[in-house]
Amino acid sequence: MSTTSHLILGIETSCDETAAAVYQTGFGVRSSLLFTQIELHRPYGGVMPEVASRSHIEKIHLIVEQALSNASTTLAEIDAIAVATGPGLPGSLLVGSCFAKALAYESKKPLIAVNHIEAHVFSPLIENTTVPFPHLCLTASGGHTALFYVEDFGKYSRIGTTLDDSAGEAFDKVAKLIGLSYPGGPLIEQLARQEHFKDSLHYPRLKKKSLNFSFSGLKTAVLYDLIERGAFDLKTKTFLATDDPTLIRMVASSFLVCVGDIFVDRIAHALTLFPDCKAITFAGGVSCNRYLNDRIAQIAHNHRISFFSPAKHYCTDNAAMVAFVGSFKMQQGCFSPLSVDIKPQGD
Ligand code: KG4
Ligand code: ZN
Repeated sequence: MSTTSHLILGIETSCDETAAAVYQTGFGVRSSLLFTQIELHRPYGGVMPEVASRSHIEKIHLIVEQALSNASTTLAEIDAIAVATGPGLPGSLLVGSCFAKALAYESKKPLIAVNHIEAHVFSPLIENTTVPFPHLCLTASGGHTALFYVEDFGKYSRIGTTLDDSAGEAFDKVAKLIGLSYPGGPLIEQLARQEHFKDSLHYPRLKKKSLNFSFSGLKTAVLYDLIERGAFDLKTKTFLATDDPTLIRMVASSFLVCVGDIFVDRIAHALTLFPDCKAITFAGGVSCNRYLNDRIAQIAHNHRISFFSPAKHYCTDNAAMVAFVGSFKMQQGCFSPLSVDIKPQGD
C-alpha cells in the first residue's frame, strides 16, 4: 500500500455506540471517541432499536465535532469521510450514514461506505499494520460470529459463520438466564475467573468437523440444565437460584470454557484447510475476553504462527476501525456515491 498521508473521519452508529474518529495514514489514530448507550438499554436486557436511533440523533453532532477537535483538525482538513453502512440496526445505520452524506455533500469531500464486519476484521491492524497476510480472523460480537481468510487490505473471504445466534448474543442470553444484566459477556468472564475456568457442568459440544458455529443449542443446553436443577421456571422465565452464587459461577465458567472449545475446534480445522495462514487474529466485542484470547493464542503458538487481537477499545464497536478501513479504501480509490444505501443485512 502507498503511504500518502491522508486524514480520514470515521463514523460508526450501527448498533448502540455513537462513535467518531480521525485516522491519519502513516501516523495512526489521531482521535477516537464514543458515547455508549449501554445504560439506556440495560433496563430492557438488550438493545432497543428505537431508543438507539433516538440517542444517535442526539449525540452524533457532538461526537463528530469532539473527534475533530481532539484530533486538532477541522472538517476542511479531512480528506474523506468513512461511515459504517451495514450490517446493523436500520434506524441506527441511517443516522450515521445520513450525517456522513450531509457532511460529505456540504464539504465536497469523498464518501467511503464501510462494511461494519470488514472494520472488525481489520481492527487488529489499526495499531499493528505489520500483521502478516494471509491470516485467519475470527470476529465475534453481539451481531455476528464468523471466520475469515484475509489475504490483503480489503481482500478477504468468509469461510465460516454462525448458523443461528452470534457468540455475543449467546453470552448475553445465558447471562440473562442466570439473572445477570446486559451486556453479559464481561460479567460471565468475571464470574468464570472466580471459578478458575472449571468446566464442572460440561455442556455438550458439536462433534462435527466444520467451519460454522451454532450457539443456540448451547444456550438451550444451559436452560434445560437449569430447569433440571430446579433453578429456572420456564413459565415465568425466572431464574430461581439467585441465592446460589456457586451455581451461577459454575454456569458462567462451564459456558465460557465450552465457547472456548468451540472457537479452538473451528480455528484448528480452518488451519488444516488454510495451512498458509501466517497469523490468527481475534476481533469484535467478544475478543475483549482474556480467557478466549489465551485459548486462541495457544493454538497460534502450537502452530508456530503469531496471534493478534486489538486493544480492548478497538474490540467493541468504535469508529477508529471504520476510519482505518476508510484510509486503505482511499488509497485503493474505493469511493461511494452519495446515493449509497444502508445495508442492514450486510453485503
Ligand atoms: O462488537 P460489539 O461491541 O458490538 C456488536 O457489533 O455487536 O460486541 C458486543 C458484544 C456483546 O454481546 C457483549 O456481551 C460481548 O460483545 N462482550 C464480551 C465481553 N465483552 C463484551 N463477551 C465475552 N467476554 C467479554 N469480556
Ligand atoms: Zn460490531
